Amino acid sequence: MNFKALLLATAVSGALFAAHAQAAELTVGFSQIGSESGWRAAETTVSKAEAKKRNINFKIADAQQKQENQIKAIRSFIAQGVDAIFLAPVVSTGWDSVLKEAKEAKIPVVLLDRDIDPAGKELYLTAVTSDSVHEGKVAGEWLVKTVGTKPCNVVELQGTVGASVATNRKKGFEDGIAGHANVKIVRSQTGDFTRAKGKEVMESFIKAEGGGKNICAVYAHNDDMMVGAIQAMKEAGLKPGTDVLTVSIDAVPDIFKAMAAGEANATVELTPNMAGPAFDAVIAYKDKGTVPPKWIQTESKLYTQADNPKAVYEAKKDLGY
Ligand code: AHR
Repeated sequence: MNFKALLLATAVSGALFAAHAQAAELTVGFSQIGSESGWRAAETTVSKAEAKKRNINFKIADAQQKQENQIKAIRSFIAQGVDAIFLAPVVSTGWDSVLKEAKEAKIPVVLLDRDIDPAGKELYLTAVTSDSVHEGKVAGEWLVKTVGTKPCNVVELQGTVGASVATNRKKGFEDGIAGHANVKIVRSQTGDFTRAKGKEVMESFIKAEGGGKNICAVYAHNDDMMVGAIQAMKEAGLKPGTDVLTVSIDAVPDIFKAMAAGEANATVELTPNMAGPAFDAVIAYKDKGTVPPKWIQTESKLYTQADNPKAVYEAKKDLGY
């Protein structure tokens, strides 16, 4: 290596070292909702891996589905003087005071996978989420297309009451079936995004709807509730996927397993990698003062039984779900 090349190599490795050293100094606290679903577990696993890739000191606080625990965690992150805070808000309201405290402490907050009340937009740096109204709309449009002109009574399993994704997925689905009077939501109740609650609520829907014979389709705001509902339908002697159509959201491996067995029909994918784009936004903001767009939107993709669910299951099953 000549002298010029040596100088260049030293400069490049010095710059790389500086970039690395800087990232290593970043500490990010994440107030995670809990582990209510397979998707949520995958988000936690993927976030840790994304932090490791960027050499970030990452602290996760599990709120066990309680907003008060999330508020406590945020206050603790502020007291520790972290460089940024990630928040997956369990519900969309009630964040103003604590987010003002973070702002006063000059700690940027990034929302992951759920939104907060639009009135609080100046209180966070950016939100990495999907378009959850669109997800519901895709699910509704798929159902309309699949049933054609046949009358179809739908039962809906909603997510956590007050969560932006539950409100939006409900609205989106209603938009998707609007103008198709043959497709009607006849029952709608929360299953809190969990498998156990999804099963319990589906059992009550089946009882109330003549043992299930009046139900044409189930729409669930996530796959975990649908997996619970599938179990309830099977126990009641129904054939999910054939007698009763299913459409849900997340695209976790277990729904592909059910699709491959002919027991589920469709799902809309939500990526568990919200943290990767969030870390990149924080690094650019800290390093260069780059202000990210207020919304970093992730993709949504519809999968049906025509998309080789067995292969998708194999590809996804070891990814932390
Ligand atoms: O906010 C994302 C939603 O929260 C996922 O769709 C659901 O599975 C989760 O618990």
